[in-house]
This record gives sequence, structure tokens and C-alpha cells, in this order.
Amino acid sequence: MGKAESFQGQVVLVTGATSGIGLALARAFTAAGATVVGTGRDQARLAQLGQEIDLALTLDLCDERAVSTAADTVLDRHGRVDVLIHNAGIGMFEAWPQTDVAAMQRVMDVNLYGAVRLTRALLPSMVEQGSGCLVSIASVAGERGYAKHTAYCASKHALIGWSRSLRKDLRGSGVDVVIVCPPAADTPFFANAGFFDYKEKHPGQSMMSAEAVASQTLQAVQRRSSQVILSPRAKALWLLDKLAPPLVDGLQKLKDRR
Ligand SMILES: NC(=O)c1ccc[n+]([C@@H]2O[C@H](COP(=O)([O-])OP(=O)(O)OC[C@H]3O[C@@H](n4cnc5c(N)ncnc54)[C@H](OP(=O)(O)O)[C@@H]3O)[C@@H](O)[C@H]2O)c1
Repeated sequence: MGKAESFQGQVVLVTGATSGIGLALARAFTAAGATVVGTGRDQARLAQLGQEIDLALTLDLCDERAVSTAADTVLDRHGRVDVLIHNAGIGMFEAWPQTDVAAMQRVMDVNLYGAVRLTRALLPSMVEQGSGCLVSIASVAGERGYAKHTAYCASKHALIGWSRSLRKDLRGSGVDVVIVCPPAADTPFFANAGFFDYKEKHPGQSMMSAEAVASQTLQAVQRRSSQVILSPRAKALWLLDKLAPPLVDGLQKLKDRR
């Protein structure tokens, strides 16, 4: 089956579809024939998104009641969700002494508990239909520690651990779990977290486009890959880190000194 019609008839829900990777995912799955529901909080961007996809829904993932209402809205409209993409996320890039507990809890609340809440609300219907796919947009920061990333790394490590364990609990249910680990991608993400000079601090490092992340995520969902590390460079570093962690630590130290 060609990419254009590969998701025909499937309902795909993308959180954080108002910007960056989520917006690219919403567009990619729409182009692949899916009926796409996208969520976010920014009303102006939601209105624009609504012109491109089936439904743009207001949803703050930290609001338990709003999550349950959004899940009911989607199930009332379509009766099912085939692919649920946990993409919404925020960054926080501060040295440990500046990281207060409340700010860290906020990162965990969006990046981990947002996915947990929405899964609680929608997974029963997927299990009942005997098919479906949960997708966690994690990060290479979910596989490795980075300086000034304690809150963000903790949230993405937790998201990966939660996704891996959930996969085991779902064995035999027909519902799969796909974990996607993008490297740095060119979206408003770092600026939204106050890290305005990311590119300056990482000279020579190319960033993935949101469209490339979306297209590789779509392929991972088609193949039902357990976990994908995107970009050859990130994959090589990931492998090297498994084999020789001190070597990667050394390289990282050199980079952090810049
Ligand atoms: N960019 C990167 O370098 C990179 C690398 C690896 C992984 N990732 C991951 O990829 C995902 C998408 O990031 P991005 O780069 O596309 O960032 P982005 O452009 O800043 O988009 C983040 C999205 O999350 C939504 N969001 C934030 N807080 C929310 C909340 N409380 N409730 C509901 N939605 C919320 C935002 O929508 P509203 O503002 O409308 O609510 C927005 O649509 C994140 O999980 C991120 O951790 C990003």
C-alpha cells in the first residue's frame, strides 16, 4: 500500500498539534489518508489547524477533566481512536541549582502525566476494539543524561520507562506501543523553554526538521517499531553510549565546555 492511502479510515489523535513536530505529524497523517484530531491550547493556532485537519480540540493535558471531555468528544464523533500520539511536551534547560521542585513538577505533569491521563481515558476503547497504537514522542534525552537537563531528561526517561512497561501489560491486546526518540529538531521548542541561543551554543550541529521527524514517525507506526532513534548521528551516539559510556561522556564534556 502506498504512503498516500496507508492510513485511510484510521483515526489519529495528535497532542500538541498546534506547533512544531505535532503540527507536522497532523499534516503527515492527514496526507496519508487518516482522519486527524489535533489538540493544543493556543486558540489562534487551533483555529488555523482546524482548516487543515478533521478536528482541532482545545486541551490542556494537565487538566484531568478537560482530558476526559476531549476523549469523550473524539469517541462520540468517531467511535474509535486507532493511533494516539503523545507528542505535547515542554522543555526546561537549567543547571541543577536553579531547578526548583515546582518547575520540575510542571515538566513531569505535561511530558509524563499528560500522556498517562489521555491514555487512561482512551486506552479502554482501543483494548475493546482489539487494535491500536500508542506513540510516545520521547527524545534522545530519554536515553542519556545531559548537563542542564535534569527535569527534561527525568521526564523523557520516565515516559520511555512507562511506555516500555505499558507495552508488556498490553501483550495480546492488539494494542502496540511505539517509542520515538528525535534528536534536536528545528521547532519553537527551545525558545519556548527560554533557550534562545541553542543554535549558537551548538555550532555545526544540524537540527532535524519537524517534517522529517513526522515522516519517520509515520513509518515507525506503519512498521509498529518498538523504538526508533531518529537520525544516523543520534543512533550512532546512542549505540556508542551503550558500548562505551565513558567515551560519549568525554565527547559530551568537550561540547559542554564550549
Ligand atoms: N524540538 C526538539 O528538539 C525535540 C527533540 C526531541 C523531542 N522533542 C519532543 O517533541 C515534542 C514536540 O516538541 P516540539 O519541538 O514540536 O515543540 P513545540 O513546537 O514547542 O510544541 C509543543 C506542543 O506542545 C503543546 N503543549 C505544551 N504544553 C501543553 C499542555 N499543558 N497541554 C497540552 N498541550 C501542550 C503546545 O501546544 P499549545 O501551546 O497550543 O498548548 C505545542 O503544540 C515534545 O514532546 C518534545 O519534548 C522535541
